[in-house]
Amino acid sequence: MTTDNAPSDGKTGVASLQRELLRWYDRHHRDLPWRISPKDRGAGTEPDPYHIWLSEVMLQQTTVAAAGGYFLAFTRRWPRVEDLAAAPLEDVLEAWAGLGYYARARNLHACARIVAEAHGGVFPDTEDELRALPGIGAYTAAAVAAIAFDRPAAVLDGNIERVMARLFAETDPLPGIKPTLYAHAARLTPPARPGDHAQALMDLGATVCTPRNPACGVCPLMAGCEGRRQGIAATLPVKAPKKVKPTRHGWVWALVDRKGQIMVVRRPEKGLLGGMLALPSSDWTETLPPADPPAQAHWREIGEVRHTFTHFHLRLTVMMAEADTTGSVTRPLAEAADAMPTVFAKAVRLLPQSTISARNR
Ligand code: ADE
Repeated sequence: MTTDNAPSDGKTGVASLQRELLRWYDRHHRDLPWRISPKDRGAGTEPDPYHIWLSEVMLQQTTVAAAGGYFLAFTRRWPRVEDLAAAPLEDVLEAWAGLGYYARARNLHACARIVAEAHGGVFPDTEDELRALPGIGAYTAAAVAAIAFDRPAAVLDGNIERVMARLFAETDPLPGIKPTLYAHAARLTPPARPGDHAQALMDLGATVCTPRNPACGVCPLMAGCEGRRQGIAATLPVKAPKKVKPTRHGWVWALVDRKGQIMVVRRPEKGLLGGMLALPSSDWTETLPPADPPAQAHWREIGEVRHTFTHFHLRLTVMMAEADTTGSVTRPLAEAADAMPTVFAKAVRLLPQSTISARNR
């Protein structure tokens, strides 16, 4: 349907939806490590833009539950944007390990440096200026402008897309319908408390207007929800079929020595997982490439790692050998997995427990 048919008056009008949503948020908001509660916000506590930006970048990679630990680790280690800017890129990449899409971590570091050096450590407070920074796209700029600076920016993440599609019974598929959903979100954004409004929609999408079995009976927007009125809320949003991803194959080698060290490499700066600490591995191709191990040793196959990237599935055959690592770069086995991207961490975790514990004695 079009906005002309959208709820527009009385108990279902925009002002009423805004009021009910904020009232619900005041009572049911989630307590999150980067968030200023509505009570504290009302009493004058302002969010730290560095915290909001950092959390939003992390939340594009992982769930709220998983982002919490990373957020606390980053802010303990680098309490201010200037601290993050001054950190070596390798340290930031290793702290990011496990979140995936490491270009984001590089952009995070580049953005911190620009804010620290060109903006005196102060984040700009408009969507346009924010968008000019590395790694900040339309979504992040709107989220930071709204949450950190209480600007009436329309925020549209996956949760809010779902809420808008249902509220206005938009039955055309994503991603084509996005501009319409954005227009709904913009029309619904209030001049007062836009930051809490955006966070309320995020929380509503995460806890009430959930992908399956939405809890329409407790929804603060139920009176104005066209999807609920038509009985189609749970079927929305409609999504265009996903492209089938190809599968690539390769080898990965775990060379372990008697001292509990494992051979590691730093991946080339350019390309997938660029600059990250990794295990030696072959090219990843659609048919298994020839095996070319990084050292002469008695290699044996210990299993397979499966991992999915944005554009392909990967299956790696994991080979292991015990040998001297003199002349190679190494890391203690006990620490290696935590410093590597998930695909290599999975391979490290495949190593027989007996080997690891025997080596750590
Ligand atoms: N998802 C993305 N950003 C979020 C935020 N600031 N709060 C809760 N969920 C989110």
